[in-house]
Amino acid sequence: MKYLFIILPFVICHVRCIIPPYRLCQPSASHSKTGVLESINVDCAGLSVTHDCNLKRGTNVSMSATFTSNVNTSKVTTVVHGILGGVAEFFLHLLSKDGEEGVRFNGVTEDACISNVNHCDITKGEIIQYTNELPVDIHYPLLRLTVKWEIRDDQNNDLVCIRIPVEIVD
Ligand SMILES: *[C@@H]1O[C@H](CO)[C@@H](O)[C@H](O)[C@H]1NC(C)=O
Ligand SMILES: *[C@@H]1O[C@H](CO)[C@@H](O)[C@H](O)[C@H]1NC(C)=O
Repeated sequence: MKYLFIILPFVICHVRCIIPPYRLCQPSASHSKTGVLESINVDCAGLSVTHDCNLKRGTNVSMSATFTSNVNTSKVTTVVHGILGGVAEFFLHLLSKDGEEGVRFNGVTEDACISNVNHCDITKGEIIQYTNELPVDIHYPLLRLTVKWEIRDDQNNDLVCIRIPVEIVD
């Protein structure tokens, strides 16, 4: 019986979602850390040989997370960047520069209060469920990059900041 409890969450998740090999962001001067990530799932189309999360072109990739907020916040926003490591700047016209690291993914709903969190007006200590989708444009080139996914509070600080190595695939 004991093993059932350990294995079950992985079995349920296996069909729909994968816990990608993500990393928490390094603390940054511009966005301090105001939350604790409890769990994450990304609907990767499998993992590549290098264990990157495969993102299939022309699909919406769902992403869900549970986090604890360490602050009161009336606003939750999503900010997604693609970090290319100096290559493939040729497809910048599909994305945009905003003065931060990487290029901004367009097409992600920024205001998470509309439908991505179970509620806004968050009180310190609350556990928040978050789900969102990343549209993977059919025109993205087939390459590897790091997706930096941030969920920010009303002070523009990071409730969650993770870096997920991904590979765009067909
Ligand atoms: C992805 O989501 C957008 C917005 O919800 C929708 O318009 C589009 O049809 C979806 N694309 C696919 C391939 O499901
Ligand atoms: C956060 O909100 C709670 C409940 O409204 C309040 O008691 C507390 O003082 C607030 N904390 C800060 C730092 O504003």
